[in-house]
Amino acid sequence: MAPHPDPWRAIDRQPDPARYVRMMESRSRTPTQARVRRRFLRFCRIAPGWKVLEVDVGSGGVARDLAAMVGPRGHVTGVDRSRVLMAAARRRAREEGLARRTDFRLG
Ligand SMILES: C[S@@+](CC[C@H](N)C(=O)[O-])C[C@H]1O[C@@H](n2cnc3c(N)ncnc32)[C@H](O)[C@@H]1O
Repeated sequence: MAPHPDPWRAIDRQPDPARYVRMMESRSRTPTQARVRRRFLRFCRIAPGWKVLEVDVGSGGVARDLAAMVGPRGHVTGVDRSRVLMAAARRRAREEGLARRTDFRLG
């Protein structure tokens, strides 16, 4: 199948979808991104125990921050159309001990 002309709409149809996982993860770690994300999440006033839905969740960088904010009684559901990204998001959440309070679904 030919790669989709807009990679952000069809990551799984790109020659190297894992490249986008690496790109999103390294971008999310830059100081500027981390600062903007923290400010945005503060603005959202997420509280412990909340159930949060993130659409177009990517590799789950924001969802993992959300999972830390909602705590063990809260839950974060992430939705994305990429199988590769959903697998990566589940793996990263597991590695960070957040698997029980996150759920990544294809959609
Ligand atoms: C630029 S990335 C942003 C990912 C994440 N929110 C972040 O900040 O790192 C856009 C995401 O939207 C997803 N996406 C694009 N169109 C979509 C659709 N129609 N339904 C679900 N996900 C979609 C892509 O697979 C990609 O993961």
